[in-house]
Amino acid sequence: MKDSPLVDLDTPSAVIDLHRVHENLDRIAGYCTEHGLAWRPHVKTHKTPQIAVAQMQAGACGLTVATLREAEVMTAVAKDLLLAYPPVGAQKRRRLTELLRTGVRLTVGLDSRESLEIFSAATRAAGAAEATALVELDVGMRRTGVGDPGAAVELARRIEEDSFVEYGGVMFYPGHLRRLGSDPEEEMDRLSKTVAGFLEALEEAGLPPRIVSGGSTPTLWHSHRVAGMTEIRPGTNVFNDRNSVAAGAATWDECAYSVIATVVSTAVPGQAVIDAGSKALAAETPLDGLTGFGALLDRPEVTVRSLSEEHGVLELAGSEWRPRVGDRVRVVPNHVCVSVNLQERLWAIRSNGAMEEWTVEARGR
Ligand SMILES: Cc1ncc(COP(=O)(O)O)c(C=O)c1O
Repeated sequence: MKDSPLVDLDTPSAVIDLHRVHENLDRIAGYCTEHGLAWRPHVKTHKTPQIAVAQMQAGACGLTVATLREAEVMTAVAKDLLLAYPPVGAQKRRRLTELLRTGVRLTVGLDSRESLEIFSAATRAAGAAEATALVELDVGMRRTGVGDPGAAVELARRIEEDSFVEYGGVMFYPGHLRRLGSDPEEEMDRLSKTVAGFLEALEEAGLPPRIVSGGSTPTLWHSHRVAGMTEIRPGTNVFNDRNSVAAGAATWDECAYSVIATVVSTAVPGQAVIDAGSKALAAETPLDGLTGFGALLDRPEVTVRSLSEEHGVLELAGSEWRPRVGDRVRVVPNHVCVSVNLQERLWAIRSNGAMEEWTVEARGR
């Protein structure tokens, strides 16, 4: 890192390698073209308009958001948004109305009559608006989504009968598949069968879905095995992280985000302490089988053993490397999305070394 522009940054600072970002985007776009899938990346990973622009330029059909803040910021980038989160509450209704008034084409995934009523009321208040609802399905994660085909048909029918919101189809998130095991085909076939049960019931009821939205980073490269899926919403894969690599969804060289930190102490033998703690890296647990809170991009054998708010303790037992106070390291966190959410800005580094400061604009509520 000696000759790099990174030596001038104060630490901890979050940096992204734009060459790797573009390679990651091109890889996903190529996969989607090959398999006839639309690509609607989830912006919760980066929350940054410049990255969203790059995703749209690489071929995304629109963007996925989880919060209204993300939606409000991203209307400047894309006119086609999916809010993959059920809207509940009067404040959300008012913000939805304002959002629809911007002329955005808005689709919302929801799993209750209450959320449908909020979305419908917001659409009515906005006047002429393009508003579509998807029935969210629970395909195994047990978080949100209706769990049986009969309930999916009932909610789809309610949407179909709604005077303001159009019925678009279904969405699901296979978040229970954090890492595909030794037989990914079998796991994906099981997922496909679960989804098929819902799709058949909807078709039989005369409510065939136009949109079947799914996908995640761990399942990304196997998405084509889910019969009937029309679009995928990977988020993490734009940057990747230690968990994406552990899940087999990315290689270490495809990790585009790291937190630059400085070694501030080597006083305790066998370890080094850096100035990036839980407030920079996020105290997210790793996937089963891993330990620690991150690993060094340039020395993946060195992990962050423990965290305080502003301290990260590097485990040196598995490495020959003996850092000195003042040395700099780049840490890849376990879960990049949560680390990004802790940053005010990202430093975007181009291949020629040029560096730009980008605000993580869609943070907060
Ligand atoms: C509803 C929904 N869709 C898509 C994603 C993106 O998944 P991943 O981060 O694995 O790419 C998430 C992640 O939390 C999600 O909650």
